[in-house]
Amino acid sequence: MSDLHPKRLLGKVVVVTGAARGQGAAEAEALVREGARVIATDVASSEGCRRLDVTSEQDWAELAAELEETYGQVHGLVNNAGITWRARIGDVRPEDLARVHAVNVTGPLLGIQHLAPLMPCGASIVNVGSSAALTAHYPVAYTTSKWALRGLSKTAATELGPRGIRVNTIHPGYIETEMTASAAPAFRAANIRETPLGRTGTAAEVAPLVVFLLSNESSFITGAEIAVDGGLTAHGGVKSVSDALFGEACA
Ligand code: NAI
Repeated sequence: MSDLHPKRLLGKVVVVTGAARGQGAAEAEALVREGARVIATDVASSEGCRRLDVTSEQDWAELAAELEETYGQVHGLVNNAGITWRARIGDVRPEDLARVHAVNVTGPLLGIQHLAPLMPCGASIVNVGSSAALTAHYPVAYTTSKWALRGLSKTAATELGPRGIRVNTIHPGYIETEMTASAAPAFRAANIRETPLGRTGTAAEVAPLVVFLLSNESSFITGAEIAVDGGLTAHGGVKSVSDALFGEACA
């Protein structure tokens, strides 16, 4: 990027959760490139990441106190940390559901509760949902958690809007990270078949959307849900029908 290109997040203090790898790491790097002061956090120890378990109220309280002392304000929060659990309805246990919801729903809630008080007018929160939040994705603990996160996002956008704080949700489709690498090969192949662009996505293709939503360029966008999924959730399950008839003229 040329030095003449104005940095879009200059001076903004932004917290990213789950930033040790995958999408969170790519988002943190992209935010730094745009001039943000990024506090990259993760439960896993990693160079450049501050330790923060999103399910821990104490971790959030300590981070908030430190940020208040150091910067006085926080301009952005990316609730990216997430875990999956691929049990189906017949096998999923209540404790699996609770564990996944603790990270994927309670985590973002705690982040908003602890950091919103430090946010000035113009601040922005991005919650990382999933195409699972828009569909009947089979891993039930994960899917229900991401649907719940949509509700949290809408409620937060409504409640924080009058303070000038925006809250948006992004819904990645199949993105090549360690999370998806742990799934069966058939899962990847089936996702590609259902994706109009005919391929998987990369973390580098998600990060620019997060940058945009944290920047002032998206100043009138709140409560929105934006898919970054190659069209996976756009067709409502009829891609195979479209593919089967492609090139056939109507009678
Ligand atoms: P990943 O598994 O590569 O990275 C997740 C990160 O979150 C890891 O660094 C992990 O240590 C961290 N984490 C887990 N539990 C945590 C906790 N309690 N506190 C703090 N950090 C914690 O996964 P990926 O793909 O980068 O996922 C990022 C987000 O994107 C997640 O919310 C995931 O659900 C979502 N997503 C991923 C998709 C994909 O295809 N990879 C598709 C749709 C959504």
